[in-house]
Amino acid sequence: MASNEDLFKKIISHAKEYGFVFPSSEIYDGLSAVYDYGPFGVELKNNIKEYWWKSMTQFHENIVGLDSAIFMHPMVWKASGHVDAFSDPMIDNKDSKKRYRADVLIEDHIQKTEDKISKEVEKARVRFGATFDEKMYRETNPRVKDYQSKIDAIKHRFYPALDRNDLADVRLLIEELGIVCPVSGTKNWTEVRQFNLMFSTQMGSVNEDASSIYLRPETAQGIFVNFLNVQKSARMKIPFGIAQIGKAFRNEIVARQFLFRMREFEQMEMQYFVKPGEELQWYEFWKTERMKWHLSLGIPASKYRFHDHDKLAHYANAAADIEFDFPIGFKEIEGIHSRTDFDLNAHQTHSGRKLQYFDTEANESFVPYVVETSIGLDRTFLAILSHAYREEKLDDGSERVVLSIPAFLAPIKLAILPLIKKDGLPEKAREIMEVMKYETRCYYEEKDTIGRRYRRMDAIGTPYCITIDHQTLTDNTVTLRDRDSMKQERINVSEIPGVVKKKIAK
Ligand code: GAP
Repeated sequence: MASNEDLFKKIISHAKEYGFVFPSSEIYDGLSAVYDYGPFGVELKNNIKEYWWKSMTQFHENIVGLDSAIFMHPMVWKASGHVDAFSDPMIDNKDSKKRYRADVLIEDHIQKTEDKISKEVEKARVRFGATFDEKMYRETNPRVKDYQSKIDAIKHRFYPALDRNDLADVRLLIEELGIVCPVSGTKNWTEVRQFNLMFSTQMGSVNEDASSIYLRPETAQGIFVNFLNVQKSARMKIPFGIAQIGKAFRNEIVARQFLFRMREFEQMEMQYFVKPGEELQWYEFWKTERMKWHLSLGIPASKYRFHDHDKLAHYANAAADIEFDFPIGFKEIEGIHSRTDFDLNAHQTHSGRKLQYFDTEANESFVPYVVETSIGLDRTFLAILSHAYREEKLDDGSERVVLSIPAFLAPIKLAILPLIKKDGLPEKAREIMEVMKYETRCYYEEKDTIGRRYRRMDAIGTPYCITIDHQTLTDNTVTLRDRDSMKQERINVSEIPGVVKKKIAK
């Protein structure tokens, strides 16, 4: 069994070898934390986008879409708080020259202590059996109590220090906790400094006229500034949502985790506008709804968990992450935030324009509250890819790598394979291809032995293969092979569209 780190490396190299994800500008040794999606990657990514878009807009009558520009007026980012506050505290280790997020170093330390508590609890559960009372154990066991009080003390000091922007105290805490650099193993740290994550560039060709603008670090602000345009033009009544898929850019400090932390990535966000006072009820609704969506990808519930935020962002009155069990551990895949009226209010103030909803029944205007769901497309791609990746030993002693991607998301749904390259089999296979390519995403291949072609289709996650053999020419039947069970059944050529449609449907 490969360790998680080995597994992660294998997934990254599989993704490259089989045309899913390439490092950006690879011939120039790549560009840190930027990736390109290859022929099968782009299909999978598009299928995820389409499924999210349908789930949000088509399945909810009161959610409509938007595609706002990446470039926005610089005042947008002043109003949203990103110019002043969208930064991470960074710290460098002088020996390894590696840069870290100071808050992540401390959070990892807390997580390690929490893991120690979980270990104690699990040991006790085994020892006491059915009579085990976890709550009482946590409250009374001296070792667990000691760990817990250490965690509480760190949180009690750390979060207020961040709020006060007291970076000297954050630095002191790292020192007092004895946190070492994972690379050099030393505590030789620099000061902690704030680092703004937004990329900026110049707009305008003449130097004197050029003004600095930012590449958006989230798609959400495009939705806020268009709130009234959308509400009026699509005649939306509160509660209603606006969904958007698009690129976002962040100059991440720590960017060494493949698709997990990129500098250019894609978000799928939805802002849900509600009556003030009803936001927490909608927040709970969207937490449940979004978890259901993740589970509908065919990934078991044990791979997900909620993480409620202790420290809330400046705009939120409640926030939780949905975390996924990536090969690098449980990490955020989606954020659900109750953003109050912070953003609309801020844009009203900075633009001088009213961003209010007129409630015709109550005959009053108000600034709506907002509940946001924000999921990373690339992280969802990574979750699906890493869950799907399996190495199998087969009964005949051979091995295969298979991607068990749910059929409705698979890059290629159906491979059409003549058994050999002669005797009229390719011609018959081409006839089938000509029909099926208008039904779903197909792949025709006649090179190599049939066994090799099956392996290749397994490796890119093609759920079904059709093989045309000599029997096809006599009775018009083909074999239909299932990727996961590798079982084959014979079906008539006329049945292919119906059978395949049923199997790949969501
Ligand atoms: N509008 C709210 C917002 O942007 P966020 O928690 O900063 O919230 C939302 O980001 C989601 O975007 C995250 O849950 C994650 O899936 C994705 N994301 C954020 N930063 C990312 C990065 N550097 N690389 C890949 N995905 C990222």
